[in-house]
Amino acid sequence: MELLSQLQEAGQRARDELAGIDNLESLENLRIRYLGKKGELTAVLRGLKDLSIDEKREVGGVANRLKSDLDQLIREKREDILTASTGGALDYTLPGRPVSYGHRHVISLVLDQAVSIFQRMGFEITDGPEVETDYYNFGALNFPPDHPARDEQDTFYVEGDKLLRTHTSNIQIHEFEKRTPPFKILAPGRVFRNEAVNARSYCVFHQIEGFYVDERVTFGDLKGALEAFCYEFFGSDFKMRYRPSFFPFTEPSAEVDIQCFLCEGRGCQLCKYEGWLEILGCGMVDPNVLKAVGYDPEKVTGYAFGLGIERVAMLKYQINDVRLLYENDVRFIRQIR
Ligand code: DAH
Repeated sequence: MELLSQLQEAGQRARDELAGIDNLESLENLRIRYLGKKGELTAVLRGLKDLSIDEKREVGGVANRLKSDLDQLIREKREDILTASTGGALDYTLPGRPVSYGHRHVISLVLDQAVSIFQRMGFEITDGPEVETDYYNFGALNFPPDHPARDEQDTFYVEGDKLLRTHTSNIQIHEFEKRTPPFKILAPGRVFRNEAVNARSYCVFHQIEGFYVDERVTFGDLKGALEAFCYEFFGSDFKMRYRPSFFPFTEPSAEVDIQCFLCEGRGCQLCKYEGWLEILGCGMVDPNVLKAVGYDPEKVTGYAFGLGIERVAMLKYQINDVRLLYENDVRFIRQIR
């Protein structure tokens, strides 16, 4: 049968040609010449229509087998060419590249830890504006008009009488205006200070403001809350001290120091060779502040504190330079998850 021998001849020729091919372009040309719409094998198959049913079956079978063999050979050739072009370096058995997952930043982790500890003590969470007026950031908090904190060296002024809040204490006034005691509020947020950047201070940082106003709130209540926080946050093995201090919006006022975990009080870069690191300011809400928002200081008292998040993060994880928290160097960030 003429068609059958034509087929076999074409098949043999295709195999011979295939053996000599070494690039993808010639391979594609060959595929088109034999298997394409106008290809040689396709033409032979078209001739089938003039044959008897038996002949059709026989020749058709051979033709289809030839087609799929050729198809397979071309595929294999393509793989060979690709492998050769990468210097034989394509190893499909190699494991894939590992996918690396991101994770939360130290600041977010510590903020969440701290918030959840206070939440368990019954504090309600809120926040307040970062762009603020002089009144909420200073005036209503009993800062005298000539207080140095208002100085442009410390405060970033925006436009008009707007400024970037220098502490989260502004939230006290917003909440006092909205509420009637009793309330127990916690307000985390970012604060801004126009200070020289160095190992211990940065122009942006985070605070958590906490305050509790009710009848007969005492300094003892404040100490109880702060000590419970430190115990939960640092574990049982920490040393804490209160230092008398001054803030215009509290009376009496104190600052809390934690003994440096890095040098255990001997003095190092982290604690500025003092052995202790300040983590918060606190006190009893000044009667002037209570009066300014319309509360009767004879009836209600309150405590307040402002906790430095970077400070407690640095202590807990023994980070000796605050800038590490803002440079986003993954070699550092990856160490604390
Ligand atoms: N706002 C103070 C600061 O940034 C910290 C502070 C001190 C907050 C005493 C308070 C407080 O709520 O009662 O330095």
